[in-house]
This record gives sequence, C-alpha cells and structure tokens, in this order.
Amino acid sequence: MYPSAKRLQEFRTSVIREMTRLAIKHKAINMAQGLPDFPSPPELIRAASVAMEEGHNQYTNTWGIPELRQAISNNLQNLYDLYYDPEEQITVTCGVTEGIVLAMLSLVNPGDEVIVIEPFHDNYLPAINFAQAKPVFVRLEPPFFQLDPERLRAAFSHKTKAIIVNTPHNPTGRVFTREELNSIASLCREFNVVAVTDEIYDRITFDEHQHIPLATLDGMFEQTLTISGLSKTFSITGWRIGYVCAPANLSAAIRTLHDFTTICAPAPFQYAAVAGLKLPESFFETQKQAYTTRRDRIVKILEEYQFIVQPPQGAYYIMSDFSQYSAHADDYEFAKYLVEEVGIAVVPGSSFYSTPELGRNTVRWSFAKKTETFDAVEQRLHLKKHRGVGV
Ligand SMILES: Cc1ncc(COP(=O)(O)O)c(C=O)c1O
Repeated sequence: MYPSAKRLQEFRTSVIREMTRLAIKHKAINMAQGLPDFPSPPELIRAASVAMEEGHNQYTNTWGIPELRQAISNNLQNLYDLYYDPEEQITVTCGVTEGIVLAMLSLVNPGDEVIVIEPFHDNYLPAINFAQAKPVFVRLEPPFFQLDPERLRAAFSHKTKAIIVNTPHNPTGRVFTREELNSIASLCREFNVVAVTDEIYDRITFDEHQHIPLATLDGMFEQTLTISGLSKTFSITGWRIGYVCAPANLSAAIRTLHDFTTICAPAPFQYAAVAGLKLPESFFETQKQAYTTRRDRIVKILEEYQFIVQPPQGAYYIMSDFSQYSAHADDYEFAKYLVEEVGIAVVPGSSFYSTPELGRNTVRWSFAKKTETFDAVEQRLHLKKHRGVGV
C-alpha cells in the first residue's frame, strides 16, 4: 500500500461536513453545516435553467464570463465604492474555497507565515498547508470576540506574508469595526503583508452592523485580495460560484493557477449569478429581515435552554457555551450526544481552534433554517429536557 503524500497526513476531512454525514445517518436536524434548508430565489433557478436550454453548457472563458465579471465589478462599486477592472482584476472561481487555496498557492512560499484569526473557518489551514506555509494564530476572546491590537501586533514579523481576514465572521458572528480593520491595515502596511479577505457573508449583517471591505481602507487596495462568493447571499451553496479580486500582478498569478485547477466555474450557474447580482435592493433588504428573525429565534431557543450565547452581528452562525445545559466536558462528546440522542447536529467548537481546549465547552449552530426547522429543534430540546435523559 502506498501512503498518501506527507502534506495530507496530518489532515482529516472537514468536521463540519462530517457532522452533516452524521445528521443523515441519525435522521437528525442539520444545524451543523452552513447551508440553507429553504429554497433558492426563483429568479436564479429560472436563469440557470434558461442558460442550460440556451446551450451554455461548455467551458467558459477561464476567468469567468465577461457579463459576470462586469456584474461583480458593478456590485462592488455600487455597494462599497471599490473598483476592480473586470478585464484584468476579477477571476470567477469555484467558490471562496477555491479562492482561498489559489490565494495561498499564488502568494505564499514554503516557510512563510500566514496569520489566521481564531476561531477560524476550517478551509484556511489546509490551504496554508498546501502552500507549505506556517499559520500564526491571533485569538479572539469570548464572549465578545473582539480583535486585540496587542495580540495582533505580536503575530506580525518579517516572516509574515499574508493575513486571512474573514468578516462577517464564521463562527462567531462578529462584523469587524472600522477601528479593528484599521489596526489590521496599518500592520499590513508596516510589515508589507497582503490581506486575503473572505467576505462571503457581506450581505448578511444585523442591526447597525455594516460590512467594510478591507481593500477600501487607506493604501490597502494594492495589498489586498478581496475574495467573496454567491453561495450564501443567494442560498446556492451547491452552485460553486465565487470570485477573487486582486491588483493586476497578483491577479495574473491567481488566473494561472485557476486555469490549471478547475478551468472555469460551472457555466450555466455563471449566467444565473449575473441575474442574482442584478436583483433589486429590496431583495437584499427582505433577506436581511428574514435572517434577523432567524437570528432572534435561535438566540431565544438557546437562551431558554441555558446555552450561553452572544447575538451574532452578521453571517448565519452562533457559538454557544453548553456548560450550563449539559455536564458533558467535551464538545465532541456533547455533539455526539446531541446528534444521536436528541436528534440535532451541531459542530464541535474545538474544530475552529488550533488549540482544541479553547473550544471545549462550545458548539456552533447554523441558523440558515426555515421556521419549521426551528420549531422541530425546540420540540426536540423540550422533549429531551422533560424526559431528563442524559442532560
Ligand atoms: C467563512 C466561509 N468561507 C468560505 C466558505 C465556503 O464558501 P464557498 O461555498 O464559496 O466555497 C464558507 C462556507 O460555509 C464560510 O463560512
């Protein structure tokens, strides 16, 4: 038997997707993976179907169809006054997941350091590992998960090549403030570090919280790869449409890698993505209200059952401390109990940390769910509590 390559030996597959497999096995409600259980917008479904019927079923331009690159450019300009030239500076990818891998492989040399803010989304470490670079962690401290400028500074050195910045943030629901982003930007400038952003939840923010792209801060355009995608905004996680926006020299490297990795993103869905980006502002407003209702519902349910939570400011996840709900000392044990005995799948909190002890009393819930799903979650928690078994 041949062993797999060394770069993979310390990696396991995603814990999040493993919880989905367990949810299916135990017929549990999947509150684990970040995928909506309600329909995608009909305008996009129709546009995808028309695109296929019209024959858009072959490879497209490698960087993405021109109409989509133009729509992405217009969108960023209208929303954030951020201009990327669609001819040279925008590459359509198979999701943000591909974008992050391209960013690491095109920017970072073996031995370079990449700063990761933790807790972190589980795609970042494999991408850093593929580039044979070293992650350096900056921890956000519960319950408020604010960025500490001193800790941030301590992570930068002459070895730092890049920092990955995800806002709105999965799993904590933080939306970084201008002040927090400025502290990142000034260190990037001082140490000549590239910021690689993951802005996939930019259209899902709550209350007064507003998304600010790092590339719009003073002097940061030339030093930022702005990565985002349509999976979450349009509830189309299976379509695999994302994009990387970069200054011209970095964009050329991204395009070369993308060309030889996936050739292009799925053709009909690129056409449908254009229809999505052209939806009126009222679509996004209505969606924001719907997510606010969902956020309020999950907070209410979890607080009722003595989970300790902070209402998220953006994205569609909530971290919860389960130590008052359950005597389980370990997040994996607790998640196993929830999926097998209560019938609810969540993600063990330690999977978002470099040091597992940090997430030991926490689990993450996704709340991109329909009303009936919340009702069922509430009912299962209620039944378990009143039977009193195992809790
Ligand atoms: C922060 C973050 N980045 C990236 C992704 C994956 O994005 P995509 O579907 O565009 O690959 C997710 C999915 O949950 C996410 O939460």
